[in-house]
Amino acid sequence: MNEALWALGRGTGVAALVLLTTSLVLGVLARSGRSVAGLGRFGVQELHRTAALTAVGLVVVHLGSLLLDPYAQLHVVDLVVPFLGADRPLWLGLGTLAVDLLLLVTVVSLLRDRVGPRVFHGVHLATYAVWPLALVHALGLGTDAWTLWMDVLAAGCLVAVAAAGWWRVQPAATDRGQVRVRRELVR
Ligand code: HEM
Repeated sequence: MNEALWALGRGTGVAALVLLTTSLVLGVLARSGRSVAGLGRFGVQELHRTAALTAVGLVVVHLGSLLLDPYAQLHVVDLVVPFLGADRPLWLGLGTLAVDLLLLVTVVSLLRDRVGPRVFHGVHLATYAVWPLALVHALGLGTDAWTLWMDVLAAGCLVAVAAAGWWRVQPAATDRGQVRVRRELVR
């Protein structure tokens, strides 16, 4: 049983990292207002949201299974308060910080209509911190860190996020929809 919990914890951690990467890249594409692979602007937004919520679900299973696995030596407090863990508290704490930010971003995103666009966009920028925290946590703590497949996967995620970050600061990444709306308001 412990073996199964451990495998589930590791598998969901890796899947969550891949989906966080996917969601970040789709978020940048959605912000640009372009169609991707035949999906219109709203299709890309929907895919971004689905990837993000699935990643959150996988993180919940990651935490639940490792909490039940005695080998991981986790306590409930480690899931929310960083750097208190019994085993390698620094790497564990970075994961906890990622979860705290992810929780904040998720709650604010679900309350988007109530908090308004300014707060939503401000808080949403925290997703740029969630991803590196999760990656460093995984490479510092994971059993599979430094295996070839995990390194190839981590490098692939890194390249995807770096490319998205680079694209995000280019003038071409301007939100086409917003530009159109602004032009119409000026007229
Ligand atoms: C966004 C949040 C998180 C993500 C994406 C994430 C992802 C990962 C990944 C990819 C691994 C490596 C698994 C492997 O080597 O096969 C891992 C390992 C681990 N994570 Fe997380 N994690 C997150 C948050 C947390 C938190 C908050 C805790 C507990 C406080 C935690 C506890 C652990 C533990 C104990 C391991 C080692 C499992 C092993 O023995 O390999 N994680 N995590």
